[in-house]
Amino acid sequence: MNPVPITLSPAGPAGPVRSARRARRRRYLLCPPEHFAVTYAINPWMDPDRPVDRAAALRQWRELAAVLRGLGHRVDLLGPEPGLPDMVFTANGATVVAGRVLVARFRHPQRAGESAAHRRWFAAARFGRVSTAAEVNEGEGDLLVAGRRILAASGFRTTPAAHREAEQVLGLPVVSLELTDPRYYHLDTALAVLDDSRVMYHPEAFAPPTRRLLRRLYPDAILADPADAAAFGLNAISDGRHVVLPAAARGLAEQVRAAGFVPVPVALPELLKAGGGPKCCVLELRSDERGGRVDGG
Ligand code: ARG
Repeated sequence: MNPVPITLSPAGPAGPVRSARRARRRRYLLCPPEHFAVTYAINPWMDPDRPVDRAAALRQWRELAAVLRGLGHRVDLLGPEPGLPDMVFTANGATVVAGRVLVARFRHPQRAGESAAHRRWFAAARFGRVSTAAEVNEGEGDLLVAGRRILAASGFRTTPAAHREAEQVLGLPVVSLELTDPRYYHLDTALAVLDDSRVMYHPEAFAPPTRRLLRRLYPDAILADPADAAAFGLNAISDGRHVVLPAAARGLAEQVRAAGFVPVPVALPELLKAGGGPKCCVLELRSDERGGRVDGG
């Protein structure tokens, strides 16, 4: 018996951080940005004429991977492939629930090749139940698992038909949301799941009926202001206790802290040139929720 609860707390300058919230150890798939570039523009953040520093992108990404490992999580790696400059954003490659994998179908031809790379990885990692979306579905970019439901967005990439397909394949009810601001083209740029019952989001990124629905589903949600949303603050990774988020979203970090979570700031300014942040770089490999092992793990 261990009387000391395992808190996975990083010790800060003032000693271990205290928070009542409990972390659950996660398994994440990441892909190093070895071929990262901005050679096309498929969202308003991308400007192919603006230079990208790939070495800096790699340094920033390594720091993110180190932070996740430092919090006690398992990091698996997907091999980067030349000609797929957005492959670092593994969140878009699939959605995994209780060992069931729904591989993405990308909206834009520039990213289509990433689906096969994910399929190969899941096969090699011996995930048994792997299927590929028939509808346009950009994985955890647009489908976020929130407890016993999936919050799914349409508007720019993933389609409403893909929401119904995900519900069938992944076996969780899907709540459909509509994005309307092109800067927030994926759900994970406008909303983050903090734990099974709490989220944070930027209301203005959504259609009015979706704002009403979110207010009803999550009356105690953290609302991000326009500045923190534009700093990509909602592109955050939560383990139920630690919330890894862009360092520039200072106000949001304070709101997260006030809600009892531990903000963990990271800086990925090079990847933001492609319209990506920390959450985009991470695909959660969810095992059986009842504490079973992760398939292939
Ligand atoms: N350049 C990529 C795209 O537009 C960025 C993807 C970011 N990923 C995410 N999960 N939001 O597709």
